[in-house]
Amino acid sequence: MRLTSRFTPLLAFASLAASQCALPSSYSWSSTDVLAQPKSGWISLKDFSVAPYNDQQLVYASTVDSAGVNYGSMAFSPVSNLTDLGSATQTGFPSGTVAPTLFYFSPKGIWVLAYQWGATPFVYRTSSDPTNVNGWSSPAELFNGTAGSDAPIDQTVIGDGTNMYLFYAGDNGSIYRSSVPYANFPGSFGNTSTVVLSDDRNKLFEAVQVYAVQGQNQYLMLVEAIGANGRYFRSFTADTLDGEWSANADTEASPFAGKANSGATWTVDISHGELVRVSADETFIVDACNLQLLYQGRDPSSDGVAYNSLPYRPGLLTLN
Ligand SMILES: *[C@@H]1O[C@H](CO)[C@@H](O)[C@H](O)[C@H]1NC(C)=O
Ligand SMILES: *[C@@H]1O[C@H](CO)[C@@H](O)[C@H](O)[C@H]1NC(C)=O
Ligand SMILES: *[C@@H]1O[C@H](CO)[C@@H](O)[C@H](O)[C@H]1NC(C)=O
Ligand SMILES: *[C@@H]1O[C@H](CO)[C@@H](O)[C@H](O)[C@H]1NC(C)=O
Repeated sequence: MRLTSRFTPLLAFASLAASQCALPSSYSWSSTDVLAQPKSGWISLKDFSVAPYNDQQLVYASTVDSAGVNYGSMAFSPVSNLTDLGSATQTGFPSGTVAPTLFYFSPKGIWVLAYQWGATPFVYRTSSDPTNVNGWSSPAELFNGTAGSDAPIDQTVIGDGTNMYLFYAGDNGSIYRSSVPYANFPGSFGNTSTVVLSDDRNKLFEAVQVYAVQGQNQYLMLVEAIGANGRYFRSFTADTLDGEWSANADTEASPFAGKANSGATWTVDISHGELVRVSADETFIVDACNLQLLYQGRDPSSDGVAYNSLPYRPGLLTLN
């Protein structure tokens, strides 16, 4: 456990009862090798969402077909350890559900799968059995607004016990937020949003994820950036989900996760994925004593290949 010196001995003692590490401001990771190859018909596995499920982990992902044209999605069968993804069964989702966000909405006891590029920019489906890709409800509108003059991309959803928040990117340097009361969820966030972060296009590109840090009264936002040396994640923190976001580890030289600190040898890109969560519910809690990031990476020899044909694969980072 990392305990900072500002803890009094009494607080330090109390914090031993539960995992209550503060987030570091400097990160160093170890990486697995490639965890799984896409099954026949797909060129890549991308945009991972991972939720605990019955003491296992359930992973959904985007797919791109062999032609490098059509996006879709898939689920792995649940695994006891993410290092076993390579032997999990891969099942295609019946219709396009790109960049999935999988979680359990505890007030109503229902699983929610949010994704992009349905009839509205973001849509969702619900299910009582998230392991059955054929068991999801018909799609319903999650959000029907914009990212300025650009299209919204890469939603994530998180609740604070009162409101559910939607965060998304625009591939154009802004991160957006919308909210609804728990009572209106699952449902639509409507068509309005607020910009919560703005920077150069490449520095706030896409793949925003937001988590609560266990025991810290603090929220963690990750945003994927385009660096000089590949894709990397910048991190920000806030005290409340409707509050202001401050830099945590936001440079390419000392990122949340990227070539500079990933420990990965098979990829320079540390791209769209998810932190492993403490539970599957809508509070998206992560344990800073045991941070792990399921990410997409690719063999750098694929540089120059058209973006949609890049051979992305899953890998797992574990904080050193
Ligand atoms: C998962 O497998 C890895 C590699 O074999 C091992 O180091 C790790 O301890 C396992 N994790 C769990 C939670 O069992
Ligand atoms: C979504 O917004 C567009 C543009 O404002 C509008 O034309 C469309 O009817 C809306 N869709 C729904 C389902 O409300
Ligand atoms: C993103 O799009 C909005 C709306 O078009 C625009 O106002 C903003 O300047 C764009 N941001 C960047 C960084 O291009
Ligand atoms: C946004 O939603 C409101 C209420 O549902 C609707 O009246 C309005 O026309 C929508 N605006 C756009 C631009 O779609």
